[in-house]
Formats: sequence, structure tokens, C-alpha cells
Amino acid sequence: MFKAASSLSGRCALLTGQASVKFHLASGALRQKSAFKHPPTDIPDMPSCNFKPEEYTGMSKERIMEIRRQNCNPMIMKVTYYKKPVLIHQGYMQWLWDVDGRRYLDLFAGVATVSVGSLPPESDGSSRAAVEEIYSEKLASYLPDPLKVVYLTNSGSEANDLAMLMARLHTGNFDIITLRGSYHGGSPQTMGLTSNAAYKYPIANGLGCTTTMCPDVFRGPWGGSHCRDSPVQTTRPCGCAQGHCMANDQYIGQLKETFATSVPSRIAAFFGEPIQGVGGAVQYPKNYLKDAYKLVREKGGVCIADEVQTGFGRTGSHFWGFQGHDVIPDMVTMAKGIGNGFPMGAVVTTPEIAAAFAKGVHFNTFGGNPVACAVGSSVLDVIKKDGTQQISLDVGTYLMTELAKLRDKYEIIGDVRGKGLQIGVEMVKDKASRDTLPPEAMSEIFEDIKDMGILIGKGGVYGQIFRIQPPMCITMEDADFFLAIFDKAIHNYMERR
Ligand SMILES: Cc1ncc(COP(=O)(O)O)c(C=O)c1O
Repeated sequence: MFKAASSLSGRCALLTGQASVKFHLASGALRQKSAFKHPPTDIPDMPSCNFKPEEYTGMSKERIMEIRRQNCNPMIMKVTYYKKPVLIHQGYMQWLWDVDGRRYLDLFAGVATVSVGSLPPESDGSSRAAVEEIYSEKLASYLPDPLKVVYLTNSGSEANDLAMLMARLHTGNFDIITLRGSYHGGSPQTMGLTSNAAYKYPIANGLGCTTTMCPDVFRGPWGGSHCRDSPVQTTRPCGCAQGHCMANDQYIGQLKETFATSVPSRIAAFFGEPIQGVGGAVQYPKNYLKDAYKLVREKGGVCIADEVQTGFGRTGSHFWGFQGHDVIPDMVTMAKGIGNGFPMGAVVTTPEIAAAFAKGVHFNTFGGNPVACAVGSSVLDVIKKDGTQQISLDVGTYLMTELAKLRDKYEIIGDVRGKGLQIGVEMVKDKASRDTLPPEAMSEIFEDIKDMGILIGKGGVYGQIFRIQPPMCITMEDADFFLAIFDKAIHNYMERR
């Protein structure tokens, strides 16, 4: 019925093993009568099938339906073909069995999807029939009220596409605002949200999408040494009175200017990553999102947190990045870490917003497929069992604190920032000008680090930021190794320069 993932990273492959599927064996001649308990008498015998399904021992049908109503996207109820949903437990070739052990001949194949026949699972099937419900409920339990309705997708772009659509349907408005430097996806719709020339193509995109100045307290016009929620602040001076951030006022002023000049009086949404990822771990002044959300809501818009990079404990102090800003969004989108490399994503929203979307029919062949749900569920278990959020906090804080010492040592390290294991190191020609280190120099250092055995990332609108976003299982020893190599690579570059 579904394909097992073939190209997962080590741990993920292990996880998906729980729900993996085997290819069918050649069928024998064993004849099996219809599994209907009370079959109508005037119909021909069902063709025989030599496969014996496992008995279903999972969640009750009533409980499955209850979760569908509370935590699953309303479309799951709407796209149910029958008056009473058929809860499929297992499949074999052209045969399906429901949780009551009834056998069906499948002549629709998940809308022409199961091309070569359903494949039996390897392990016991205690909860396979309810796997999407179980996962949706589990994922929703990680989010605060009223964020309780889960839509499962196959990628982050798709999740953001869906969030755009839902925001527009719910509000009846069209315009969406994003922060410059952001990355929200590469689909034709989300390319409009993405605000980084490297990821834009010269095609029609971005209808209804407007950007506003990114409140970047290092590179932007305003910012000081108390602005952000990070173990390391910028070296820019701060003359603000306690508890009052002038930089935040200025950047919020820019957002107000955008409202006054670039969008209609009512908008659909504001998208923001809690910490920019592709943009280079850019952090905003502490109250920026809180103030922006207030203004957006006054304009009729909904607030969307793109947690594709910051979710699942990466920021250390919290499970979700938005929690570090003390806000509750109206929608949260997620991908990447949700599946530890398995292609999946999700939008979680409120029942009210979900209801507007349910007026039409949205169909998604693979969103919420059983393998994805099994993987997603295992990832949540691993996060808890291995304490990866705490590792993010401890190792990330250590890394940033030590990197700040390198910033003080080298003229070309302009800024170190981030939270947990979402870390950026912004490179400059010199500290006074803050001009960006040119791409060739970035590449030299990047290559050198690779040649010494470490892979890191690059980002930023000008490609001037090194990004450190490792798996959340790294150790202090790994951190020390990286710090030594990074120090050496910068030293080597300075010697050559
Ligand atoms: C913050 C953010 N949102 C959305 C996306 C798009 O996700 P995907 O590549 O799964 O479509 C990305 C991908 O890098 C991302 O970083």
C-alpha cells in the first residue's frame, strides 16, 4: 500500500523499520471465503485470497473517530467516501481488510496510487489503521491551545502553500507580509514569500506577497547589545533605557510603513521564522514578533510561524521557536526535523481556521501516509528519550559562548548569534565597516573546514554567514573539535590574506 523509504539517514532508516513493508510473495492456491460476517446471499462468491491478515488489536473505532474530529484536518472527514468510514487495517495485493477483518476488493487503489498491489507489513499491525490519527494527536499535544488541528504534507513548501491558502480563505484577504531575507519554500506560491534573490526565478510569482525590513540587529540600521534572545549579543553599543528597545521601535516602524504604503488596509497573513534559517540565524529584537503579531491582527491577518528549521527543540530553551518570543501564532508550519530526513511536513492551526478551509475539498495523496506518521512519531519519541532539546541548549550555548571568543580574536568574525543549535557566524571584511566578507573568501574558509573534516552550512542574503545546525545528538567533544577547526581555518585564511 505504501513504499518504504529507501534513502534515509542511519537513525531514520532504523525508525522506519518499524513500519516498513515487504514485497509480496507469489500467491498459492489457498482459497478463502469472503470475510464479511453476514454477506448478502444473492451475490457471487468473492474470489479467493491466500493471504491471512493479522487480527487488528489497535485503537477502537470510536476513539479513532474522536481524534479525527479533534486533531485531524477536517478534510479527512470530508474526503471519506462512505457514510461510515472504512478503516483499513491491512492490505495484500488487490485486497484490503478493515479493522473488523472484512475483506474488500480494492478497485480504486488510493486513487490510482497503489500501482502494483498492497504489500503486507513485517511487524504486528496493532495500530496501523489509526496511524494518522495517533500521530496527529501526538503532534498536536506538543502545541499550545488552540493550535490543535493537524494537516500532514510532504514538504515545508507544501505546508507553507497550504498555510497561505488557509490564511486567505479564513480572512477573506489576500496580502501576505514576510521579512526580507526569509526562506519559506520554492514552489510557485512560496517563492513569493521567500525574500532572497538567490531563490527567485524570473517567472510570475509573489502575487499578493510583500516584504518588510528584516529586524536584523547586527546588519540592519538599528541594533544594540541587549536586543536579542541569545547567549551572545552584538558588539554594537546600546543606549536604551532598561526595558525599552529603540531598535525594536524602529523596525516596527518599518512594518507600519509597509502597512501604510504597500498593502491594502486588510491583510491575510504575516509569515515569520522565529529565527531565520537560510537567512543566516538572523534574530529579531526581543519584542518584535509580539508587536508585529498585534499589528497584523489589527489588520485582520493571521500570524504564521514557519518552524521548518526552528521546531522540534532545536532552539534549546523551547520545543518551538515561537515560544522564545512569547507569542502564540495562528498557524505553525513544520518540515525537515519533523521526519529526521523523511519527506514530510505539517501545518497545525486552530479549529476555526481549519473550518474555513474545509468549505472546499483539498486532496493530498501522500500527506499523512503511514510510513511518514510512523517516522514522525518515532522522531518525537527520540527527542524525548535522548533529551535532544536539552543537548541543543547545553551544547549550543557552549558553542556560541566559545565562538564569541573567536569573534573577539579575529577581525573578520563580525557576529555570533542564535539559540540552541540554530547558530550563525557572520563574516565581515572588518568590524568597523561590517561590509560582508566576499564569497570567494567565504568559500576558501568553507573548503578548508571541510578538508579538516567538518561540514557546516552557509547562508545569508549575501552568502556571508556560516551556519551551524547539526543533528541535536552532538556532544561537547564534537563542539570542541569544531571550535578548534574553525579557529584554525580562520587563522589560515588570515595568514594567507
Ligand atoms: C524556514 C523554511 N521554510 C520552508 C522551507 C521549505 O521546505 P522544503 O524544502 O521541505 O519544501 C525551508 C527549506 O529550507 C525552510 O528553511
